Amino acid sequence: MLEVRDLHKYYGAFHAVRGISFDVAKGEIVGFLGPNGAGKTTTMKIAVGFMTMSSGTITVDQRDVVQDSMAVRRVIGYLPEHAPLYEDMTVTEYLSFIADVRGLRGTLRAERLQYVLGVCALEPKRRSGIKTLSKGYRQRVGLAQAIIHDPKLVILDEPTVGLDPNQIIEIRNLIREIGERNTVVLSSHILAEVEATCSRVVIINEGLIVANGAPSALGAALTDDNVVQLELGADSCDVKGTFAEHVDVAEVLVAETTHRGCTITIRVAESCTSTKPMIDLSAQNGWEIHGIVRPNATLEDVFKSLTNSEGEPQSSLILANETEPHVEGHAEIEDADIGDKS
Ligand SMILES: Nc1ncnc2c1ncn2[C@@H]1O[C@H](COP(=O)(O)OP(=O)(O)O)[C@@H](O)[C@H]1O
Ligand SMILES: [Mg+2]
Repeated sequence: MLEVRDLHKYYGAFHAVRGISFDVAKGEIVGFLGPNGAGKTTTMKIAVGFMTMSSGTITVDQRDVVQDSMAVRRVIGYLPEHAPLYEDMTVTEYLSFIADVRGLRGTLRAERLQYVLGVCALEPKRRSGIKTLSKGYRQRVGLAQAIIHDPKLVILDEPTVGLDPNQIIEIRNLIREIGERNTVVLSSHILAEVEATCSRVVIINEGLIVANGAPSALGAALTDDNVVQLELGADSCDVKGTFAEHVDVAEVLVAETTHRGCTITIRVAESCTSTKPMIDLSAQNGWEIHGIVRPNATLEDVFKSLTNSEGEPQSSLILANETEPHVEGHAEIEDADIGDKS
């Protein structure tokens, strides 16, 4: 549904997007995750045809966004980061206006209006002026305008930013509902956001893709097989010292007191392939073992480990979307964008 190949974007001399490639298949809900300034909004604006790229290719539903921009716009719905709404219109007036712009006519127009008012739970506010609406309702209006023409691909830029926790839950549910009919790409700088809604996550940092895969697969790939966590019926102070002295322990990562004793997380030496020495050590010291696990890395660990680099070369974790060899780009580097219509 969406293919991004070797996309670059310069703002003047600043290289904001530095050669990214990824695919989104029909029916997926993909999270585009990255810290502020990573290049998410830039990539999304280029994909929807609101900004020019410096080089690369993007196709939506097999149509080139540059060569075939009008056709692409018809199959895309877009919620910009700061959704422009016409303050002086009522909800119905605004959505009717968008329906007209989208070329909807007759019964289809009426049906689609009714559908988005229903699915976005806007019925109670249909006659309210947009300027009187809360941020949560405004965001629903933004989502309604993005899906009114039943687009094949829905692109949502930070859809829950500025919402309170209840509104966030409502908008997430709405996105899942939209995802049942349409392919969705949403950006976020908040991990919990993508973990809650997306089946796959593409992590971008400083204009480069650093990870691509299902949240659980990314966690598993980053899981360090040499890390073991023990829950012991013992005082954390002696445990830490005793484990640190033990030959097979490379490093004691965390030792925390719990109501049952302590939890200790250690990295064992490469040569240590069994937990038996830890069990023996605990037995020798009379510490009861309540649990022994190899903790899985979470998406948060993945995000932290891949986006915290300080100028060091990035490692990356690409588990999906093997990119094809780059086919020739179609534009040379240019200076700035041509007007941001969002
Ligand atoms: N119109 C612009 N002119 C110059 N630099 C820009 C412009 N828009 C964004 N940038 C810069 O490009 C980088 C990526 O921005 P953006 O795509 O908005 O990131 P994100 O959405 O991930 O926060 C940032 O460093 C930002 O400051
Ligand atoms: Mg942004």
